[in-house]
Amino acid sequence: MKKELAKRRPNYRLSYSRGGFVTFKLPENESLEKRLAINTSTLRLVFARSCVHSLGSVLKKDALAPDGSFDARLAAERVWRLAQTEFGPDSQSAREAQRAGRTPEKIARIHVFERDKFNVGVRGFEPGLTPAAYAVHRAVYEAAPEEFLAQFGPNADRLDAPGEPGEICLDVAVVEEDEWRVGMHRVSDVHSRYPGGLFPLELPTDAASRAFLKFEEGLRWADFPIGVGSRCVDVGSAPGGGSQALLARGAEVLGVDPAEMDPRVLANPNFTHLRGKVSQLKRKLFRKSRWFITDMNVAPKYTLDALEELVARDDIAARGLLFTLKFFEWNLADNIPEYISRIKSWGFNHVKARQLQFNRQEIMIAALKKPFVR
Ligand SMILES: C[S@@+](CC[C@H](N)C(=O)[O-])C[C@H]1O[C@@H](n2cnc3c(N)ncnc32)[C@H](O)[C@@H]1O
Repeated sequence: MKKELAKRRPNYRLSYSRGGFVTFKLPENESLEKRLAINTSTLRLVFARSCVHSLGSVLKKDALAPDGSFDARLAAERVWRLAQTEFGPDSQSAREAQRAGRTPEKIARIHVFERDKFNVGVRGFEPGLTPAAYAVHRAVYEAAPEEFLAQFGPNADRLDAPGEPGEICLDVAVVEEDEWRVGMHRVSDVHSRYPGGLFPLELPTDAASRAFLKFEEGLRWADFPIGVGSRCVDVGSAPGGGSQALLARGAEVLGVDPAEMDPRVLANPNFTHLRGKVSQLKRKLFRKSRWFITDMNVAPKYTLDALEELVARDDIAARGLLFTLKFFEWNLADNIPEYISRIKSWGFNHVKARQLQFNRQEIMIAALKKPFVR
C-alpha cells in the first residue's frame, strides 16, 4: 500500500504508522470538500480498505482517569472536540456556509473500526467489526453534543447500519485500546458506506466454502447487474461458495471444475457442473454466457491465460469478469498495472482491482464492458 501510494501521490509524506494503520502528511491544506472526497477509489488504492482524512488523535494522556487509566468517556468527549473544529458552529466551514447562505455540512454517523492486528488468516484473524469497535461506537455516540445528535442520519445509533451516499461520517480508528485516531469522509463508493470499509457479512451456515464471502463482497463492490436469469460461468467452482453468491441472485451458473461440487450447490436447479479443466471443454458450451467468475489456485499468469482463451475472441460475448489473482509471492503485486492493461486489451473498458476484506494473499479484479454491445 505504501508503494502504490508513493506512485499515485509522490508528494504525500509517510507519517505515523502501525501494522494495519498508516498516516500520510499532505503537502498543502485543501478545502473541506476535497478532504472529504479522499477515499480508496479516488486514490485507486488496491491494498487499502479504508482511507479518510484525519482530524487528530486521542491518546492516553488526553483521557486519563484519576487512577491513571484510560477513560473511554473522556476520550469520546475529546473526539467531539476534534469534530467541532471542522463541523462546530464556530468552525471555518460553518462560517463560510453561513456567509454563502448554504446549510453547513453535518456529521450523519460515526464509523468505528479497529486496525487489523494480524495478516488475514494468521492466528485465525478475520477482519470485521469487533466488540471493541461496538463499545467505542456506543461511547462516542453517547457523548455526542446536542447539536450533533440532532443532525444524525437514520440508525446512527447502530454501527452496522450502512451510510448513505453523500453522508459525512466521523471516523474513529481504534489503533490501540488507548489510542484512537479520528477522521472524516463522505460516503461515495460501496466500501465507504461501512466502518473501516468492513462489510458486516457472516458466512452462512449452508455455505459450501469461505469463498462465498469474497464473491459476495466482490459482487457488491463490482456492482454488476447480475440477477434472475443472468448467465454466468464459474471456473474453478468447487466446492461452490462463489457459485452460491451468484445463485442467490437468481443467476444460472455453469460451474467448471475437475473437483467435486458440494451437494447443496448441485441440488440447485440453476447450477450445472461441467466436470473437467476449462481448457478441456468445448467453447460452444459458453456461447450464451455473459459473466465469468474465477478463483483458481494457480499463478496470475495462468488465470489470465485461461480467461483470455475464453473471453478475448468474438464467439463468446462476455460482459463482465470477476476473479481472483493469487499472489504466491507479494512482489507479483508490482505487475498489477500490466495485468490491468492486458485485461483492457480484451475489450473491458472498466477494470478495477482491490484486495477485498475476504481476500487473503490475493486480490480481486472486476472488469466490465460498458456500454455492452453483443
Ligand atoms: C480455491 S478453489 C475454488 C473455490 C471455489 N471458487 C469456491 O467458491 O468454493 C480452486 C479450484 O480451482 C480448480 N481449478 C484449478 N485449475 C483449474 C482449471 N484449469 N480448470 C478448472 N478448474 C480448475 C481446482 O480444482 C479447485 O477446485
